[in-house]
This record gives sequence, C-alpha cells and structure tokens, in this order.
Amino acid sequence: MLEDKVIVVTGGAGLIGSRFCQAIVDQGGIAVVADLNLEAAEKTAQTVGGDTRRAIALKLDITDKVSLEAGIATLRDSFGRIDGLINNAYPRNKNYGRRLEEVEYADFCENMSLHLGGYFLTSQVFSAYFAAQKGGAIVNMSSIYGVMAPRFEVYDNTPMTMPVEYAAIKSGVVHLTRYFAQYYKASGVRVNTLSPGGVEDGQAPSFLAAYAQFCGTKGMLDADDLTGGLVFLLSDHARYVTGQNLVIDDGFSL
Ligand SMILES: NC(=O)c1ccc[n+]([C@@H]2O[C@H](COP(=O)([O-])OP(=O)(O)OC[C@H]3O[C@@H](n4cnc5c(N)ncnc54)[C@H](O)[C@@H]3O)[C@@H](O)[C@H]2O)c1
Repeated sequence: MLEDKVIVVTGGAGLIGSRFCQAIVDQGGIAVVADLNLEAAEKTAQTVGGDTRRAIALKLDITDKVSLEAGIATLRDSFGRIDGLINNAYPRNKNYGRRLEEVEYADFCENMSLHLGGYFLTSQVFSAYFAAQKGGAIVNMSSIYGVMAPRFEVYDNTPMTMPVEYAAIKSGVVHLTRYFAQYYKASGVRVNTLSPGGVEDGQAPSFLAAYAQFCGTKGMLDADDLTGGLVFLLSDHARYVTGQNLVIDDGFSL
C-alpha cells in the first residue's frame, strides 16, 4: 500500500515509531527513522531494513527549523521526493508527568512548546515542501486524551497520572491537523490525526486490568494494532481523506 513512498517518522526510534517504520517497509515503502537520538535511530533502521536501504536513520530535532530544513534537503538529494510525514516524536522535559497541583508554569510552557510547538514547526516546514511538490500526506499523533476527559481512576494506586500538559498538547494536535488540512487542501497536502489508546509497555497488571474494564476485547494495545490505520492514512486509498481524526482504542473513549 506504500510502494516506494518515502515516509519520515519523527521519534522513529521509540516504542510506536519503530513499529511504524517496520509497517512502512512491510508495505513496500522507505522508512526514514528521524530521531533526536541518532544512535537509537541507526539501530532501528538496521533492525527494520537491514542493508536494503528501505529504512534509513536521520538525526532530526522537531524543535529546530535548521535541523528540519537540513533533513528535507538530505532526503530530497537521496530520493528526489518525500511522500509522507508522521509527527510522532514525544519530547518532554525532566519534570513532565507530575500531578496537577505540582505542575510549575514554566514546565507546562516548556512541554507545550517542545511537543505541540515541535509538531507545529515540523508541519510548517514539511507542508511548505509538500505544497511545492504538489502532494504529501501528514499524520499527526494525538491520543484518546486529546479527545476525551481523563479517566483518573485507572491510575489509582500507581505512580502514574494523565498529565495536564498532555491533555492540552494532544487536543491542540487534533485542531492543528484541521488548520493545516484546511490551509493546504487545494495544494494536494493531506493532514490527518491518529489518536491511539494506551500502548502496553510493561505497566503493572493492576493498572492494565483497571484500564481494560473500559475496553472491548483487548484493553491496552500493542503498537502493531495501530499500523493498519496508519498505513491507510498514508496510502492512496485515503487520497480524499483530510482533516480527520482516526481513533484506535478498543472502545476506551466510548
Ligand atoms: N505510548 C502510548 O501509550 C501512546 C498512546 C497514545 C499516543 N501516543 C503518542 O505516540 C507518539 C509516540 O509515543 P511513544 O510512546 O512511542 O514515545 P517514545 O518515548 O517511546 O519515543 C519517542 C521518541 O521521540 C524522540 N524524540 C524526543 N524528542 C525529540 C525531538 N525534539 N526531535 C525528534 N525526536 C525526538 C525520542 O528520542 C524517542 O525515540 C507520541 O506522540 C505519543 O504521545 C503514545
């Protein structure tokens, strides 16, 4: 479904990003593992693509315009075009994830700026490139917590919470999508959101059970559960789909 499409995955070395890179290669595309952590990106590219050059590592900082423009220039020189971008990086500062009462104003602003600001900047730079190229698809990663109020009760008796910054960032991402989709729809640039439920990553069994009560048949998802929706949004099957938000959450947000 992605035959020879060159697709940039920011945060491509992470939990979900690395699975997205694998899915792109499995569908015949070329995955650009674009991450702040070059060493991790190189490892992911090697695991996903081996020596085929169907997956390549790129050092990229979504909060730095120079880095974004240099990345685009490198890819244009290597492949002649770029077909897609997944805004999937997950920057957070050292105080990210505190309970509401403990969140400092400066930390709130810094996390908004790194994450929502980074998605804005990356979208701005790539959209301009895609518009000039007369086509391109962007998928922005939001979350169920970008579309619904938190279910704090699932975090009872755990050190985790659903951070207030995350709610503001991820709801912002949903609307950033609509803004860019509207702005660029006549230029052949499609922009959509993917909003996943929680992805299992070694959380405590009691948390997984509390979470699963709100779900259908699975509960917390595996990153693989998201790839079908992602591939669809990037593919030509979605050629007239823009400005939409695809929620994949086993019913958690219903
Ligand atoms: N994990 C979940 O349960 C879950 C659920 C819903 C949505 N999401 C969203 O999915 C996306 C990926 O999440 P994840 O859990 O795989 O994250 P992760 O922490 O496993 O990976 C994030 C990656 O982003 C990279 N990164 C951080 N700052 C960067 C920057 N400035 N520029 C480029 N790369 C940078 C990191 O090096 C890391 O490789 C995020 O947008 C997250 O909000 C995650």
